[in-house]
Amino acid sequence: MKKNKTQTPHLSQDNLNNEMMSFIANSPTPFHAVLNLQEILKVYQFSELKESEKWDLKQNGRYFVTKNDSSLAAFVVGNRPAQKSSFKIIGAHTDSPNLKVKPKPDKIFKNFHQLGVEVYGGVLLSTWFDRDLSLAGRVHFENKKGALQSALVDFKSAVAIIPSLAIHLNRTVNENQSINPQKELPPILLQIQDKNNDFRNILASKLSKDGYPVSKILDFELSFYDKNPPAFVGLHDDFIASARLDNLLSCFVAIKGLIASLDNKTAATKVMICQDHEEVGSCSHIGAEGPFLPSILERICFDRESFHQSIKNSIMISSDNAHGVHPNYAEKYDENHGPILNAGPVIKINANQRYATNSETASLFAKLCEDLKVPYQRFVVRADMGCGSTIGPLTSANVGLKVVDVGVPTFAMHSIRELCGGKDSVFLAEVFKSFYSREDL
Ligand code: CO
Repeated sequence: MKKNKTQTPHLSQDNLNNEMMSFIANSPTPFHAVLNLQEILKVYQFSELKESEKWDLKQNGRYFVTKNDSSLAAFVVGNRPAQKSSFKIIGAHTDSPNLKVKPKPDKIFKNFHQLGVEVYGGVLLSTWFDRDLSLAGRVHFENKKGALQSALVDFKSAVAIIPSLAIHLNRTVNENQSINPQKELPPILLQIQDKNNDFRNILASKLSKDGYPVSKILDFELSFYDKNPPAFVGLHDDFIASARLDNLLSCFVAIKGLIASLDNKTAATKVMICQDHEEVGSCSHIGAEGPFLPSILERICFDRESFHQSIKNSIMISSDNAHGVHPNYAEKYDENHGPILNAGPVIKINANQRYATNSETASLFAKLCEDLKVPYQRFVVRADMGCGSTIGPLTSANVGLKVVDVGVPTFAMHSIRELCGGKDSVFLAEVFKSFYSREDL
């Protein structure tokens, strides 16, 4: 721990957190998150580029590009000629662990209509029981003219639930609970009146109601989510409880930092990248192991030679949440490296390169915090435990960038309802703004 723990952030805490909570509530899937990020960028005159078209970039120009509707990069071109450019990058991920509807999901038992699900990423399964679940994602369909079309869909209301088994029927549940996802997780959608009404029909009528000219549903990527919106929690509203804090918090704070830095025109090109598929290993055409970021950086430079020179002078902050010390499980943390909620962003370090931080990049982040008088902390996992990872090491290895892995401390990572401190998001936004604004680091 550094500095004074009761220090308050300079940016308006209530505004940032309220906006963040509404962003997360309106972003049940990476598709919705990317759409909402675009809306924010358009307000600040960022214009959209297509990967398939020639880019004609202007100095200080503001641009964004999306991939698969679920990854997004935004950038502000620097003052310097592109061949002498460097990049200041903040990266995060748009996806969160969840239950995804299977392609042929219908399961009927005793007139209950349930949907088969796949587990996406490292879901904390027990937290998904007895929640008011809604359903959202992307649907592809044939329209009335016979052409392919896609749409985002969000049922918004609580259309399903996974009820627990009563304790009377499982007396030992509190001693040893294990959950079989294939058997125990299919949410109950409804009690059947019409046996011919399968899930694809239900989806088609939902899309028609939303105004889409659906002739036939062809495929979909749909996820269940908790309808309960984010909330301040604690006697003095110290905490924020919400789904998807990992890692929509970082996406939102990164875009806030970028926008807050727009008045400071810098030599370096500012880049914000939010990518899908981190929770399943990042190995996809839209994930951090794919070509999305390096191809963008290369296109901002004139040629391959200036790209290589620029990468050498560039740095990335990889932002993803960290594990705060849980008072009931203090033995799970190293006694000197357990971050506290509301005590500032965390620099994440791992000797085995599960985090890409090194002493050079850690000190740059520390310097940014010190100069702002923002408190910061360091996390190292216990030496007898394995360590999670982020997009940091993958991007670093893939692109050749120097990276520091950071994030706000949280509880209950990968629960359907995670917890963070209300101050840390604002501290992190201040650091991001400064990172994008300063010329000397
Ligand atoms: Co994460």
